[in-house]
Amino acid sequence: MSKQILVIGATGRVGSELVRLLIENGESVSAATRNPVTNASKFFNTVDVVEFDYDRPETFAPALNGVEKIFLSVRPGDNHSDIVSMPLIELAKQMNVQHIVDLTAMGVEQDESFMLRKLEKNVEASGVEFTHLRPNWFMQNFNSGPMYTEIMATKELHLPAADAEISFVDVRDIAAVAFTALTHFGHSGKAYTLTGQESLSHFQVVDIISQVIFDKISYVPVTEEAARETMINRKIPHDLIERWTDFYRKVRAGLCSTISPDIESVLGRPPILFDRYAGDYAASWQ
Ligand SMILES: NC(=O)c1ccc[n+]([C@@H]2O[C@H](COP(=O)([O-])OP(=O)(O)OC[C@H]3O[C@@H](n4cnc5c(N)ncnc54)[C@H](OP(=O)(O)O)[C@@H]3O)[C@@H](O)[C@H]2O)c1
Repeated sequence: MSKQILVIGATGRVGSELVRLLIENGESVSAATRNPVTNASKFFNTVDVVEFDYDRPETFAPALNGVEKIFLSVRPGDNHSDIVSMPLIELAKQMNVQHIVDLTAMGVEQDESFMLRKLEKNVEASGVEFTHLRPNWFMQNFNSGPMYTEIMATKELHLPAADAEISFVDVRDIAAVAFTALTHFGHSGKAYTLTGQESLSHFQVVDIISQVIFDKISYVPVTEEAARETMINRKIPHDLIERWTDFYRKVRAGLCSTISPDIESVLGRPPILFDRYAGDYAASWQ
């Protein structure tokens, strides 16, 4: 059997881009999803679509059959991702997987008790070769997910981010770094912080999107208390509310504005600018 690259989160924002890149470059790919039948049509027919569910560990071994390398992404907002991924990492070691490229988040190395850092440490302790990818906030959050829903419903975006800047990163750059780490030598044992090449406030972000779509979108800064109230009303689980609140505290403290050289050093070109992202995705906001 040919050696496969298993992409976990293959229907997600980074994973779907990564599958596309791998297939375009002739790699053998297994795309992991909870619903292989429903999602099969999303992939080229050369992709082996396999069932994989963190809540059903019995799906891990069949998904790992014949797999040489793994792109390991966990569920967004899962506060137990280090625990649910542990049996997968152990099995990967037993089944002779050669390299795990994991997707965590920018700054995880600053808190050894944070679950995504624990996940990285579990991968390191397994003895399997690894590369950690630590992205900042995705640009694509503005054209999918809850922020996009709010923009489309109200032409406004309410966040407790004040005028703080974030070095947003395009998921296409994250996927390109993941592709390089999985298919080229020299990335084992490395940790890459993945950011854009500029830091922007949400005022600047909505201005760029507004210019691209010839329509006015407004950013409305709100207090932490107001944001918390909105999340409570939306019945968002308590631990997630705490995580979001903590995240935006970091944003307001300027901790998410750092610009990392890592995308350029891996890819040999600068990261995608927000202007280009907005142009490429303009149809999303029409
Ligand atoms: N969004 C950001 O700005 C950001 C920033 C830094 C880091 N991250 C991290 O990047 C990762 C991806 O985030 P995202 O927001 O872009 O999500 P996403 O990858 O677009 O979507 C979620 C993915 O998780 C999969 N999934 C959901 N439940 C699953 C389960 N029980 N078992 C296996 N797979 C499951 C879904 O696959 P199926 O539905 O096909 O099963 C889907 O592919 C997350 O770990 C997040 O913490 C995100």
